[in-house]
Parts: sequence; structure tokens; C-alpha cells
Amino acid sequence: MTNKILQVNKLKKHFDMRRGQVVKAVDGVSFDVNKGETFGLVGESGCGKSTIGRTIMGLYENTAGDVTFDGKKIHELNVKEKNAFYRRMQMIFQDPYASLNPRSTVKEIIAEPMEVHGLYKSDKERLERVYELLEEVGLNRDHANRYPHEFSGGQRQRIGIARALALDPDFIIADEPISALDVSVQAQVVNLLKRLQEEKGLTFLFIAHDLSMVKQISDRIGVMYLGNLVELTSSDKLYENPLHPYTKALLSAIPIPDPDIEEKRERIILEGELPSPINPPSGCAFRTRCPLAMDVCAEKKPAWQEVSDNHYVACHLYDETVEDPDKAAPKLTISSQ
Ligand SMILES: Nc1ncnc2c1ncn2[C@@H]1O[C@H](COP(=O)(O)OP(=O)(O)OP(=O)(O)O)[C@@H](O)[C@H]1O
Ligand SMILES: [Mg+2]
Repeated sequence: MTNKILQVNKLKKHFDMRRGQVVKAVDGVSFDVNKGETFGLVGESGCGKSTIGRTIMGLYENTAGDVTFDGKKIHELNVKEKNAFYRRMQMIFQDPYASLNPRSTVKEIIAEPMEVHGLYKSDKERLERVYELLEEVGLNRDHANRYPHEFSGGQRQRIGIARALALDPDFIIADEPISALDVSVQAQVVNLLKRLQEEKGLTFLFIAHDLSMVKQISDRIGVMYLGNLVELTSSDKLYENPLHPYTKALLSAIPIPDPDIEEKRERIILEGELPSPINPPSGCAFRTRCPLAMDVCAEKKPAWQEVSDNHYVACHLYDETVEDPDKAAPKLTISSQ
């Protein structure tokens, strides 16, 4: 029996644009998600995180590669199988302001997926379930007849979570569920997700662009850059021993609460913008912003390899086959100790 509930295998999602241009939003990504874990996916804006989420959900066709959920390839499901799949996998969206229909009451918003899937025999039973869900996410039954605009951002996100839970799924893709919220509210929503995970044994794919919150919630983390994964390991290992220069740069951007350490530590500032996925750099896509780039980085795309137990990285610095006199053990460190 495999513990892997989701397998993403060399997945590509390209968008065809005008004049024959192609946006390579996701360009060959592989990872597995184990049952019951939270897998964090991080990377800066535009690197392809939402596109991966949407392609996994089957909202986008795959350009190449495949996604297997509980043994079945989701892009090959027939209509009946797809219905069953959507009961098991749900998505929480980035923007709690845009993702809830402003003309529907909270009750209607949460009950809609149950109606679509023909769950519960009567309206009364569905309403009972709506009340139950509201309470599970820290709201109450008095909220059922109100409209989304009457709620704060954090409360709206709770409504979005209640809706995602309505079909009792076992896998949830949370696409930046806290990015639009105040810092003080972010922790509350993260705690709610953690509690629900424990109570219901949920599996999460948690998408974010900031590593600090992801660490708190994730068991493993994949770091993305311009349509590719560059590093993947347990959340502890990623913080203790980051390998990829991009991961190091992301980590160094997180403030450390101790002012002495904060003052002394080396900060890696990434220069320049994320290149366009229409015309990505040759070889390693990160090389144009990498402080340790070597000649080989422009020539050859680094292989995705397991450099130590369950620690994957795509970087020529760790590639045994690359002969480069400058290739010493990476000197880039992020702490001052
Ligand atoms: N439907 C689409 N058609 C064309 N290009 C798209 C489409 N959706 C996304 N893209 C492009 O694909 C790339 C990845 O976009 P995506 O939304 O997946 O990034 P992201 O990592 O989720 O960013 P953010 O953190 O801002 O949400 C971007 O260059 C984006 O412009
Ligand atoms: Mg996104």
C-alpha cells in the first residue's frame, strides 16, 4: 500500500498566446504528497504555483506529464469519476473578497456544493450541515443569512474554508489562503487549518509565496522558480540546511526576532525581476539572478536529483558530473554563527 495520495509527474502546463508565443507556466514539475501531510509550495509571484494547483484540480488540461490522485490519472477521468474526484479534492482560494459570490448568503454559498452533488435529502438537513460547518470554522449559525460583504477578510476566508469542507473532502489545495489577510488574522486561519487537519485527517497542498508561514504548517516544502521546482525536502531540513541559492535567498528575507543575530547576519538580496516564462534563460532559469552562477549554468539545465535522504535539488553546485574549478562547497550562508 502506498502512502502517496497525490503524484505529480513531470507536469507541464503551457499557455498558447498570440503570435505563437508560449507561456511555460509549469515546465516539468514532479513531487508526491503523502496522505495526511501538509505539502507547502513556495516561490515568488508568477512562478506557476496557482497554475500547478489548478492543473492538479483538473481545471486546466495538462500540456504534458500527469497527475495521479489515489491511483487514478485525473486528466483521464470520465464525467462520473470526475464528480467523485471533486467530492474528495477541494480548493480554498487566494482572495476571500473575490472568491465568494456577493449576491449569495453564506448559507447558499456553503450549501451550493452539497446541492450540486445531491448530498442530503432535504433543505433542512443541508441547513443543519451548514450550521455545523460554520461552527467548525469558528463562526456561528447567526451568520448563515448574511452576505459576504458583512464580514471581515478573516471571516470570509473561514466561509471559504467551510464551503471547501462541505463535501467532506480528504484533500484540500489552499492557494495562498492567508496572503490577503492581516498578519494578526493569518495565524488564526493557519491554526484553524491545522486543527481541521488533525480532526479530519486532511491532506493539504498549501501554496504561499512567503516561507515563514509555510514552515509553521508544512511537513515538507517544495520551492519553485519560474515553472520548475528547485528544491524539495522536509520543512526542518529546508530551514537548517537549505541547498539551492534561491532557497537561501528566500530564507534570508525572513526577519529573525533576535536583534543581535538580525544585525549581523548576511542578507542575500536578489537582483532583478523574475524572467518571463515566455522566454526563460537557457540552462538554469535562476542563473541570471544567482550570485554563484558558473559557466555551466547557462549551458545545461541542472538535473533534479536526490542529494541526501529525501532532499532534492536542481543545481549544478551539487551536480557530481560538473567539473568546474570554481565549484567549491557553496559559500553562501545565511546565519551569522
Ligand atoms: N490563463 C493563463 N493564460 C496565460 N498565462 C497565464 C495564465 N495563467 C497564468 N499565466 C501565466 O503563468 C505564469 C504563472 O502564473 P501563476 O498564476 O501560476 O503564478 P503564481 O505563482 O500563482 O503567482 P502569484 O503568487 O502571483 O499568485 C505567469 O507568468 C502568468 O502570467
Ligand atoms: Mg497564484
